[in-house]
Amino acid sequence: MKPKILVTRAVFSEVIDLLAQHFEVESNQADQIYTERELIDKLRGKDGVFTTSSERISAEVMAANVQIKAICNMAVGFNNIDLDAATRAGIMVTNTPEVLNQTTADFAWALMMAAARRVTESEHWLRAGQWQKWRFDTLLGADVHGATLGILGMGRIGQAIARRSLGFDMRVLYHNRSRLPVEKEAHANNATFVSKQELLRSADHLILVLPYSPQTHHTIGAAELALMKPGATLVNIARGGIVDDVALIAALRERRIAAAGLDVFENEPCFHSDFLTLPNVVLTPHIASASEPTRRAMAYCAAENLIAALSGAQPQNIVNPEVKG
Ligand code: DGY
Repeated sequence: MKPKILVTRAVFSEVIDLLAQHFEVESNQADQIYTERELIDKLRGKDGVFTTSSERISAEVMAANVQIKAICNMAVGFNNIDLDAATRAGIMVTNTPEVLNQTTADFAWALMMAAARRVTESEHWLRAGQWQKWRFDTLLGADVHGATLGILGMGRIGQAIARRSLGFDMRVLYHNRSRLPVEKEAHANNATFVSKQELLRSADHLILVLPYSPQTHHTIGAAELALMKPGATLVNIARGGIVDDVALIAALRERRIAAAGLDVFENEPCFHSDFLTLPNVVLTPHIASASEPTRRAMAYCAAENLIAALSGAQPQNIVNPEVKG
């Protein structure tokens, strides 16, 4: 008998076909959003689950379904899963690192460029019929080339972002839990490790790439925003909750920083509606990894992790290796 799995959200149909070669699959191609109660019920009798970053897999969900052996998330972030509870329950948890590094780094740049050079604001202005004549000071922005790029969280995506700055003649500063080996710094456009305070004070463009956890909650709040340059831009492609959105709205409204580019929000998809009233913020709906090849690669990666986990092998991307297959 094949193991039974649940796929919690709609996904590429060929990935469902692949999973169906190995498992009895309950899929959700209608893309219904399950409540915690529904998730608990759907998981009854299942051996594994293919999740996305939008489902919260709580300790309660796991306690009600102790037979589950693997939770395979189609995302590099896994803060939607109670990892400690999974590890205590002997459930393997996997993510999809590497396959999205370049696409996500590209998107961080897209947001930085759009925010600094006021691209979406310009387009709204033009579409609203406000372009009546050329003026020397129409929609002046900040330069990206030659500026200081700050990166908070210098993992694989942060390093890919830094490498792109070489062609823009930028100085790169970063802060991370630990300093990178010298060769990695050299490969990341000679990135210089600095304190968080120095990073906030010196960056013209600051990109957040750190994982979300209770320890990184509101890493950027009113005090941190107050340290930033008045002409600075802030980009968040990491997770909502790393930035205190209320504090950021105040800083943008009062022009204490120039602009922001945000792909993630607290309580998304129900983000703070005051963002919509601000011209100096570029807003996108959590799509940093959303290129066709990358989302496909992420889906296959999660599926292959699940196939390995339920066949007794160690999945390639296990994040709690203390749980043995
Ligand atoms: C990730 O992979 O963590 C992206 O944010 C998609 O959820």
